[in-house]
Amino acid sequence: MRALVFGSLNIDYVYQVEHFVQRGETLASSSFQRFSGGKGLNQAVALSRAGLDTCMAGAVGEEGTFLLEELRRAGVDTRYVEHSPIPTGHAIIQNTPDGDNCILLYGGANRSIRPEQAAAVIGQFTPGDLLLVQNEISSLLPIMRLGKEKGMRVALNPSPMEEARIREVLPFADTLLLNRIEASQLLGSEEAEPEKLLRELQERFRCKEIVLTLGGEGALLLREERIFRQAAFPVKAVDSTGAGDTFTGFFLAAVLQGKDEAFSLRFAAAAAALSVTRKGASPSIPTWEEVLLFLKEKS
Ligand code: RIB
Repeated sequence: MRALVFGSLNIDYVYQVEHFVQRGETLASSSFQRFSGGKGLNQAVALSRAGLDTCMAGAVGEEGTFLLEELRRAGVDTRYVEHSPIPTGHAIIQNTPDGDNCILLYGGANRSIRPEQAAAVIGQFTPGDLLLVQNEISSLLPIMRLGKEKGMRVALNPSPMEEARIREVLPFADTLLLNRIEASQLLGSEEAEPEKLLRELQERFRCKEIVLTLGGEGALLLREERIFRQAAFPVKAVDSTGAGDTFTGFFLAAVLQGKDEAFSLRFAAAAAALSVTRKGASPSIPTWEEVLLFLKEKS
Protein backbone atom coordinates (compact mmCIF):
# COMPACT_ATOMS: atom_id res chain seq x y z
CA MET A 1 0.00 0.00 0.00
CA ARG A 2 1.35 3.41 -1.01
CA ALA A 3 0.28 6.97 -0.26
CA LEU A 4 0.10 9.66 -2.93
CA VAL A 5 -0.11 13.31 -1.92
CA PHE A 6 -1.20 15.38 -4.92
CA GLY A 7 -0.67 18.89 -3.61
CA SER A 8 1.18 22.15 -3.21
CA LEU A 9 4.86 22.80 -2.69
CA ASN A 10 5.57 26.29 -1.34
CA ILE A 11 8.50 28.37 -0.23
CA ASP A 12 7.46 29.83 3.14
CA TYR A 13 8.81 33.32 3.90
CA VAL A 14 8.30 33.72 7.65
CA TYR A 15 8.42 37.09 9.43
CA GLN A 16 8.43 37.37 13.22
CA VAL A 17 6.11 40.25 14.26
CA GLU A 18 4.68 41.63 17.53
CA HIS A 19 1.16 41.61 16.03
CA PHE A 20 -0.36 40.95 12.59
CA VAL A 21 0.00 43.96 10.30
CA GLN A 22 -3.14 46.13 10.29
CA ARG A 23 -4.85 47.92 7.41
CA GLY A 24 -2.73 50.91 6.33
CA GLU A 25 0.07 50.03 8.78
CA THR A 26 3.75 49.59 7.94
CA LEU A 27 5.23 47.13 10.40
CA ALA A 28 8.86 46.15 11.00
CA SER A 29 9.55 42.46 11.57
CA SER A 30 12.20 41.33 14.06
CA SER A 31 13.42 38.35 12.03
CA PHE A 32 13.00 36.57 8.72
CA GLN A 33 13.46 32.90 7.80
CA ARG A 34 12.81 30.81 4.69
CA PHE A 35 11.36 27.31 5.11
CA SER A 36 9.95 24.58 2.91
CA GLY A 37 6.17 24.35 3.12
CA GLY A 38 2.90 24.03 1.25
CA LYS A 39 0.10 21.91 2.65
CA GLY A 40 0.86 19.15 0.14
CA LEU A 41 4.57 19.00 0.92
CA ASN A 42 3.98 19.21 4.70
CA GLN A 43 1.43 16.39 4.66
CA ALA A 44 3.69 14.22 2.48
CA VAL A 45 6.56 14.73 4.95
CA ALA A 46 4.23 13.89 7.85
CA LEU A 47 2.95 10.67 6.21
CA SER A 48 6.48 9.55 5.44
CA ARG A 49 7.87 10.38 8.90
CA ALA A 50 4.90 8.48 10.35
CA GLY A 51 5.98 5.38 8.45
CA LEU A 52 4.05 5.27 5.15
CA ASP A 53 5.59 4.64 1.73
CA THR A 54 4.80 8.11 0.32
CA CYS A 55 4.93 9.74 -3.14
CA MET A 56 4.37 13.42 -3.90
CA ALA A 57 2.84 14.81 -7.11
CA GLY A 58 2.66 18.50 -7.98
CA ALA A 59 4.72 21.17 -9.70
CA VAL A 60 7.61 23.49 -8.85
CA GLY A 61 9.42 26.28 -10.69
CA GLU A 62 13.17 26.63 -11.05
CA GLU A 63 13.80 28.06 -7.58
CA GLY A 64 11.86 25.25 -5.88
CA THR A 65 14.44 22.50 -6.31
CA PHE A 66 15.38 22.66 -2.61
CA LEU A 67 11.80 21.64 -1.79
CA LEU A 68 12.37 18.36 -3.64
CA GLU A 69 15.58 17.78 -1.71
CA GLU A 70 13.70 18.36 1.55
CA LEU A 71 11.06 15.82 0.51
CA ARG A 72 13.70 13.24 -0.42
CA ARG A 73 15.48 13.75 2.91
CA ALA A 74 12.15 12.88 4.58
CA GLY A 75 11.97 9.69 2.48
CA VAL A 76 9.29 10.92 0.02
CA ASP A 77 9.43 9.77 -3.62
CA THR A 78 9.34 12.95 -5.78
CA ARG A 79 9.25 11.39 -9.26
CA TYR A 80 5.74 12.75 -9.94
CA VAL A 81 6.60 16.40 -9.24
CA GLU A 82 6.83 18.28 -12.56
CA HIS A 83 9.15 21.17 -13.32
CA SER A 84 7.20 24.24 -14.44
CA PRO A 85 8.27 27.47 -16.19
CA ILE A 86 5.97 29.25 -13.69
CA PRO A 87 7.53 30.40 -10.37
CA THR A 88 7.23 28.07 -7.39
CA GLY A 89 4.26 28.74 -5.09
CA HIS A 90 5.05 30.72 -1.98
CA ALA A 91 3.54 31.87 1.29
CA ILE A 92 4.16 35.10 3.23
CA ILE A 93 3.69 34.15 6.88
CA GLN A 94 3.49 36.46 9.89
CA ASN A 95 4.30 34.70 13.15
CA THR A 96 3.50 36.32 16.53
CA PRO A 97 5.24 35.66 19.92
CA ASP A 98 2.39 33.37 21.08
CA GLY A 99 2.96 31.12 18.06
CA ASP A 100 -0.05 32.32 16.06
CA ASN A 101 0.21 32.91 12.32
CA CYS A 102 -1.51 34.38 9.29
CA ILE A 103 -0.70 33.34 5.75
CA LEU A 104 -0.84 35.03 2.33
CA LEU A 105 -0.52 32.58 -0.59
CA TYR A 106 0.77 32.86 -4.14
CA GLY A 107 -0.23 29.70 -6.05
CA GLY A 108 2.38 29.88 -8.86
CA ALA A 109 3.34 26.45 -10.25
CA ASN A 110 0.79 24.78 -7.95
CA ARG A 111 -1.93 26.20 -10.20
CA SER A 112 -0.36 24.78 -13.39
CA ILE A 113 -1.38 21.15 -12.73
CA ARG A 114 -3.42 19.80 -15.66
CA PRO A 115 -5.88 16.88 -15.88
CA GLU A 116 -3.36 15.07 -18.17
CA GLN A 117 -0.74 15.09 -15.38
CA ALA A 118 -3.41 13.84 -12.97
CA ALA A 119 -4.32 10.91 -15.27
CA ALA A 120 -0.67 9.95 -15.86
CA VAL A 121 0.12 9.94 -12.12
CA ILE A 122 -3.04 8.24 -10.83
CA GLY A 123 -2.47 5.53 -13.48
CA GLN A 124 0.62 4.44 -11.52
CA PHE A 125 -1.36 3.60 -8.35
CA THR A 126 -3.54 0.67 -7.36
CA PRO A 127 -6.86 0.18 -5.53
CA GLY A 128 -6.46 0.61 -1.78
CA ASP A 129 -3.63 3.14 -2.08
CA LEU A 130 -4.22 6.45 -0.28
CA LEU A 131 -4.79 9.67 -2.25
CA LEU A 132 -4.48 12.77 -0.06
CA VAL A 133 -5.34 16.22 -1.47
CA GLN A 134 -5.78 19.78 -0.21
CA ASN A 135 -7.12 22.90 -1.94
CA GLU A 136 -3.95 24.68 -3.07
CA ILE A 137 -3.64 23.18 -6.57
CA SER A 138 -5.48 23.29 -9.89
CA SER A 139 -7.34 20.26 -11.36
CA LEU A 140 -8.57 19.11 -7.94
CA LEU A 141 -11.82 17.70 -9.37
CA PRO A 142 -10.21 15.43 -12.02
CA ILE A 143 -7.57 14.29 -9.53
CA MET A 144 -10.18 13.22 -6.98
CA ARG A 145 -12.52 11.72 -9.58
CA LEU A 146 -9.71 9.65 -11.10
CA GLY A 147 -8.51 8.52 -7.69
CA LYS A 148 -12.01 7.40 -6.73
CA GLU A 149 -12.51 5.58 -10.05
CA LYS A 150 -9.21 3.81 -9.47
CA GLY A 151 -10.45 2.53 -6.10
CA MET A 152 -8.00 4.63 -4.07
CA ARG A 153 -8.94 5.72 -0.57
CA VAL A 154 -9.47 9.47 -1.06
CA ALA A 155 -8.80 11.90 1.82
CA LEU A 156 -9.53 15.61 1.48
CA ASN A 157 -8.20 18.44 3.62
CA PRO A 158 -10.28 21.30 2.13
CA SER A 159 -7.85 24.02 3.04
CA PRO A 160 -7.82 26.90 2.17
CA MET A 161 -11.63 26.78 2.10
CA GLU A 162 -13.50 27.79 -1.07
CA GLU A 163 -17.05 26.62 -0.40
CA ALA A 164 -18.32 26.13 -3.99
CA ARG A 165 -15.19 24.30 -5.16
CA ILE A 166 -15.13 22.02 -2.14
CA ARG A 167 -18.83 21.14 -2.32
CA GLU A 168 -18.21 20.06 -5.92
CA VAL A 169 -15.40 17.63 -5.03
CA LEU A 170 -16.80 16.28 -1.74
CA PRO A 171 -18.71 13.37 -3.34
CA PHE A 172 -15.30 11.86 -4.21
CA ALA A 173 -13.91 12.00 -0.64
CA ASP A 174 -13.94 9.03 1.74
CA THR A 175 -12.30 10.95 4.56
CA LEU A 176 -12.66 14.65 5.28
CA LEU A 177 -10.21 16.41 7.64
CA LEU A 178 -10.92 20.03 8.49
CA ASN A 179 -10.95 22.63 11.27
CA ARG A 180 -13.92 24.28 12.97
CA ILE A 181 -13.90 27.45 10.85
CA GLU A 182 -13.73 25.44 7.62
CA ALA A 183 -16.60 23.23 8.80
CA SER A 184 -18.83 26.25 9.52
CA GLN A 185 -17.92 27.82 6.17
CA LEU A 186 -18.71 24.60 4.30
CA LEU A 187 -22.08 24.29 5.99
CA GLY A 188 -22.81 28.02 5.66
CA SER A 189 -23.81 27.90 9.30
CA GLU A 190 -23.08 29.81 12.50
CA GLU A 191 -22.93 26.53 14.42
CA ALA A 192 -19.79 26.23 16.56
CA GLU A 193 -20.56 23.18 18.69
CA PRO A 194 -18.17 20.48 17.39
CA GLU A 195 -20.45 17.45 17.65
CA LYS A 196 -23.29 19.25 15.90
CA LEU A 197 -20.90 20.35 13.15
CA LEU A 198 -19.78 16.75 12.65
CA ARG A 199 -23.33 15.40 12.44
CA GLU A 200 -24.40 18.17 10.04
CA LEU A 201 -21.38 17.54 7.82
CA GLN A 202 -22.14 13.82 7.69
CA GLU A 203 -25.80 14.40 6.91
CA ARG A 204 -25.10 16.92 4.15
CA PHE A 205 -22.04 15.36 2.50
CA ARG A 206 -22.25 11.64 3.37
CA CYS A 207 -18.52 11.20 4.13
CA LYS A 208 -17.64 7.87 5.78
CA GLU A 209 -15.13 9.45 8.12
CA ILE A 210 -14.74 13.06 9.30
CA VAL A 211 -11.97 14.50 11.48
CA LEU A 212 -12.57 17.91 13.05
CA THR A 213 -9.50 19.61 14.52
CA LEU A 214 -10.04 22.21 17.24
CA GLY A 215 -6.53 23.61 17.88
CA GLY A 216 -5.88 23.82 21.62
CA GLU A 217 -9.17 22.00 22.31
CA GLY A 218 -8.06 18.81 20.57
CA ALA A 219 -9.89 16.89 17.84
CA LEU A 220 -12.96 14.76 17.14
CA LEU A 221 -13.45 11.84 14.79
CA LEU A 222 -16.80 10.71 13.43
CA ARG A 223 -16.75 7.17 12.09
CA GLU A 224 -19.75 4.93 11.49
CA GLU A 225 -22.06 7.03 13.67
CA ARG A 226 -19.60 6.98 16.59
CA ILE A 227 -17.72 10.05 17.81
CA PHE A 228 -14.22 9.73 19.31
CA ARG A 229 -12.52 12.61 21.17
CA GLN A 230 -8.91 13.52 21.79
CA ALA A 231 -7.65 16.39 23.94
CA ALA A 232 -4.70 18.50 22.82
CA PHE A 233 -1.39 18.00 24.65
CA PRO A 234 -0.44 21.24 26.46
CA VAL A 235 2.89 22.58 25.16
CA LYS A 236 4.61 25.95 24.84
CA ALA A 237 3.70 27.07 21.31
CA VAL A 238 6.40 28.74 19.26
CA ASP A 239 4.94 28.42 15.76
CA SER A 240 1.65 26.74 14.86
CA THR A 241 2.33 26.74 11.09
CA GLY A 242 1.89 23.20 9.75
CA ALA A 243 0.34 21.75 12.94
CA GLY A 244 -2.85 20.81 11.07
CA ASP A 245 -0.78 19.21 8.30
CA THR A 246 1.18 17.21 10.87
CA PHE A 247 -2.05 16.01 12.49
CA THR A 248 -3.48 14.99 9.09
CA GLY A 249 -0.40 13.01 8.04
CA PHE A 250 0.06 11.19 11.35
CA PHE A 251 -3.64 10.40 11.73
CA LEU A 252 -3.95 8.90 8.23
CA ALA A 253 -0.66 7.01 8.54
CA ALA A 254 -1.81 5.41 11.80
CA VAL A 255 -5.21 4.45 10.37
CA LEU A 256 -3.64 2.94 7.27
CA GLN A 257 -1.25 0.95 9.44
CA GLY A 258 -4.27 -0.63 11.13
CA LYS A 259 -4.28 1.36 14.39
CA ASP A 260 -7.61 1.92 16.15
CA GLU A 261 -9.37 5.27 16.54
CA ALA A 262 -8.01 6.07 20.02
CA PHE A 263 -4.39 5.36 19.07
CA SER A 264 -4.62 7.21 15.74
CA LEU A 265 -6.07 10.36 17.32
CA ARG A 266 -3.61 10.34 20.23
CA PHE A 267 -0.65 9.75 17.92
CA ALA A 268 -1.73 12.61 15.64
CA ALA A 269 -2.36 14.98 18.57
CA ALA A 270 1.09 14.22 19.99
CA ALA A 271 2.77 14.84 16.62
CA ALA A 272 0.91 18.16 16.20
CA ALA A 273 1.85 19.21 19.76
CA LEU A 274 5.53 18.53 19.07
CA SER A 275 5.36 20.46 15.79
CA VAL A 276 4.11 23.68 17.44
CA THR A 277 7.14 23.71 19.77
CA ARG A 278 9.42 24.16 16.73
CA LYS A 279 9.75 26.80 14.02
CA GLY A 280 8.73 26.38 10.39
CA ALA A 281 6.22 24.15 8.64
CA SER A 282 7.86 20.97 7.33
CA PRO A 283 11.06 21.29 9.44
CA SER A 284 8.88 21.17 12.58
CA ILE A 285 7.30 17.79 11.74
CA PRO A 286 8.57 15.08 14.13
CA THR A 287 9.51 11.50 13.33
CA TRP A 288 7.51 8.43 14.39
CA GLU A 289 10.14 7.66 17.07
CA GLU A 290 10.00 11.21 18.52
CA VAL A 291 6.21 10.95 18.80
CA LEU A 292 6.36 7.57 20.55
CA LEU A 293 8.96 8.92 22.99
CA PHE A 294 6.77 11.98 23.70
CA LEU A 295 3.77 9.71 24.36
CA LYS A 296 5.84 7.50 26.66
CA GLU A 297 6.88 10.55 28.70
CA LYS A 298 3.20 11.62 28.96
CA SER A 299 1.89 8.24 30.10
O1 RIB B 1 -0.50 24.65 6.51
C1 RIB B 1 0.65 25.44 6.50
C2 RIB B 1 1.04 25.76 5.07
O2 RIB B 1 0.04 26.55 4.48
C3 RIB B 1 2.32 26.55 4.93
O3 RIB B 1 3.45 25.74 4.85
C4 RIB B 1 2.05 27.42 3.71
O4 RIB B 1 2.91 27.15 2.63
C5 RIB B 1 0.59 27.17 3.33
O5 RIB B 1 0.44 26.28 2.30
